[in-house]
Amino acid sequence: MKLIEKMLKTDVLLADDFADLGRYLECLSKSPESAKSPAGARSPLGARSPANANNSATTQSPATADTPTSTKSPAGTGVTDLPAEDVAPGRLLWVLDSNTELLIHPTPKPVVTLKAGEGSKTLKNVETILEAACEHDMSRTDAILGMGGGVVTDTAAFAASVYKRGCRLILVPTSLLSMVDASIGGKTGVNFLGAKNIVGTFYPADTVVICVDYLKSLPDREYKSGLAEVIKTAFLARDDELLKELVMRPESVKKRSPDELKHIITLCVKTKSSYVREDLEEKTALRRALNLGHTFGHALESLKRMSVSHGDAVAWGMACALRAGAEEHVCEGRFAETMIRLLSGYGFDTEYKIKPSEWDEYRKYLYKDKKNLGGELRFVLLAERGFTVEKALDTERIRRIVSA
Ligand SMILES: NC(=O)c1ccc[n+]([C@@H]2O[C@H](COP(=O)([O-])OP(=O)(O)OC[C@H]3O[C@@H](n4cnc5c(N)ncnc54)[C@H](O)[C@@H]3O)[C@@H](O)[C@H]2O)c1
Repeated sequence: MKLIEKMLKTDVLLADDFADLGRYLECLSKSPESAKSPAGARSPLGARSPANANNSATTQSPATADTPTSTKSPAGTGVTDLPAEDVAPGRLLWVLDSNTELLIHPTPKPVVTLKAGEGSKTLKNVETILEAACEHDMSRTDAILGMGGGVVTDTAAFAASVYKRGCRLILVPTSLLSMVDASIGGKTGVNFLGAKNIVGTFYPADTVVICVDYLKSLPDREYKSGLAEVIKTAFLARDDELLKELVMRPESVKKRSPDELKHIITLCVKTKSSYVREDLEEKTALRRALNLGHTFGHALESLKRMSVSHGDAVAWGMACALRAGAEEHVCEGRFAETMIRLLSGYGFDTEYKIKPSEWDEYRKYLYKDKKNLGGELRFVLLAERGFTVEKALDTERIRRIVSA
């Protein structure tokens, strides 16, 4: 287990493999009593090999607690390279989804298992988590542990941020997108009245534990969604290490080589942290740079009623933003072309055009973007690697870029 980034109050840890993660989770789950008494010790929590996992969706209601009640620090964690406070005291309330539940054996308790999918980001599920926390009389120093993709980490984090005005929060992201993006940076939230992430808080996790072994079982579509965010991060990084890696080793990235993944995820975490650290609550244009490609992309997702994946939409949105940047002389045309080629090299459709008949509806969705001010449509454009500008674009230019 290695500490790869310290950002605000968050320690971001990288596990060597499932065994390393399993040891860490086991230590987290031990109370002072169980550490002292072998008879009281819980069975080890093993991260289950993805080969054994299947993707069947089942819902599980909160189970009864079998965790000890003390909140003192366990003596001797057995996990190397970590200060004692990182392998923390207190009890855990696990939040999983119906897919990530299959990745850990035996199922830890107490647990709230959400149905897999975006539909689970609801206040109702936050309430279920809070009810479980109350039922088990958890204190603020006990932790909610969200293990899953962005849906689980956003929902668990929101619940943690409001439980007793904020309890400990541990995130174990299991999708590429949640490793490089959703679990890093403190944005929590759920969907409400049909609007995405409209209710939420800023509440960075205390600890984020990343284990790339999880990515072996991640479906291709979800992996590609995460890759779009990795490429975005490479565009936003102030140094060229991540971009070079993506250019030089596309095959090992696509094949999900564990060493390659550890390397690129570490670079992504460091880059995202550098944006968030300065602007946790997105008050300036700095953090809004992370929305590169998202204004064009979100409107496409809405137009296509979410049938296009988030990654495909964001990658297309970045291609649109690069074209707009070149037309507006924000960036060089050759730079835009090279970056668009990188996106298509990773299998993203950068040439997609919406039908002229879809334009009015698409424009309506563009106006819903949070960045718009005073009726202007504003976009994050890439001036060069690591530097963005926010600019209003006229609707005729946008129409030409997105439409056939
Ligand atoms: N908080 C933030 O800053 C932030 C940033 C980006 C995205 N998000 C949010 O993240 C969400 C999307 O996250 P996501 O793409 O991870 O979606 P997700 O959580 O729905 O996960 C995608 C699918 O993969 C499954 N899955 C996850 N890990 C798996 C694994 N190791 N093996 C097999 N299946 C696995 C999940 O069960 C789900 O079916 C959105 O709700 C978005 O709003 C938040």
